[in-house]
Amino acid sequence: MKKNILRPTLLLLASLGIASVTLQGCNKGKPAAETTTNTAENASMNIKTETFGKTKEGTEVQVYTLTNQQGVQVKITNYGATVTSIITPDKNGQAGDVVLGFDNVEGYQSDAFLKSGPYFGAIVGRYGNRIAKGKFTLDGNTYTLATNNGENHLHGGNKGFDKVIWTAKPMPEQNALQLTYVSKDGEEGYPGTLTTTVVYTLTPDNELKIDYTATTDKATPINLTNHSYFNLAAGRAPDALGHLLMLQADRYTVVNASLIPTGELRSVAGTAMDFTKPTAIGTRLAQVEGGYDHNYVLTGANNSSKLAATVYEPTSGRYMEVFTTEPGIQFYSGNFLDGSLTGKGNTNYKQHYGFCLETQHFPDSPNQPEFPTTILRPGETYKTSTSYKFSVKDQVPTQ
Ligand code: BGC
Repeated sequence: MKKNILRPTLLLLASLGIASVTLQGCNKGKPAAETTTNTAENASMNIKTETFGKTKEGTEVQVYTLTNQQGVQVKITNYGATVTSIITPDKNGQAGDVVLGFDNVEGYQSDAFLKSGPYFGAIVGRYGNRIAKGKFTLDGNTYTLATNNGENHLHGGNKGFDKVIWTAKPMPEQNALQLTYVSKDGEEGYPGTLTTTVVYTLTPDNELKIDYTATTDKATPINLTNHSYFNLAAGRAPDALGHLLMLQADRYTVVNASLIPTGELRSVAGTAMDFTKPTAIGTRLAQVEGGYDHNYVLTGANNSSKLAATVYEPTSGRYMEVFTTEPGIQFYSGNFLDGSLTGKGNTNYKQHYGFCLETQHFPDSPNQPEFPTTILRPGETYKTSTSYKFSVKDQVPTQ
């Protein structure tokens, strides 16, 4: 194992110019290439904190860098608890950034970004995806939420969890960053004061784990997810349509014209929606009106962590596995990216440049009694977990 990771690790560290940081940062100052045992002791890593600039409102926000023994590097800002960068090696050990985003907070607050609303890398909440007409009834009371997507409520409203400043606490012993946000009773129309904690952990085996917990003082809907856009070619392909996607799902929630579920769970068999075997995203995209923007019903959903999706990018050899405790996953093929945004490394984000795999409960669940519940009540703890695991493969793995 040591032999396999040594060359890519050193190449990666050298190309990132972070070799000295990583070597000093690892517990006991062991050289990174020798630190291959996954004990808790060896996992203690230096977490770098830097400024990410000032928000429009004048508050300075930070960016935190998690690095592991294999030189994988993840950057997260406390603005929106947003993942801004994930650097992983390709099959030749060359480092590349596999998510879309910006180098400073200005990018996330620009007029163009707010206009197109792509939610790059953010934690979305209090409710990820749509709630029809921004209305729901709970315990006999009807609540009206902010509507920010035509007549519907999307990703928490006008100022969702992606646009607030979270309280960050680096946890070097776990190689993790803890972020907390207290959402006030009535915020964006939701009932109850909701205290949310998100912990991002970078494991020694290249897994970015996201643990979500929340408590409330009044019953409220909650559906948290991360909205990263991936492109595993890291700039070496014109779009993400060549990525081979596998979704562990044989049904999806059918939606109406405004992307609200009709309630029907339809089989993917024999249609362009079928990703039960690794298939290039672009192969049948034209057959799906508007592109993929659908919630898939994960098989074997029972609150324990399970494989939900895999993605293989043939030119780089990068491979990503997604595990989650959630019952659904929104596969969104970046349909609304339109070239109006230019991000890190001067990369222009045109349509389908990146795609999202948002683990979640189903859209509009507060209005759909047949869907798994999204209601959190006082005294209960909301607890979900999702991880994105990165590796390289010589060829597409057969499932
Ligand atoms: C939604 C899309 C939306 C995108 C960006 C996705 O989660 O399903 O419909 O356009 O987020 O806001």
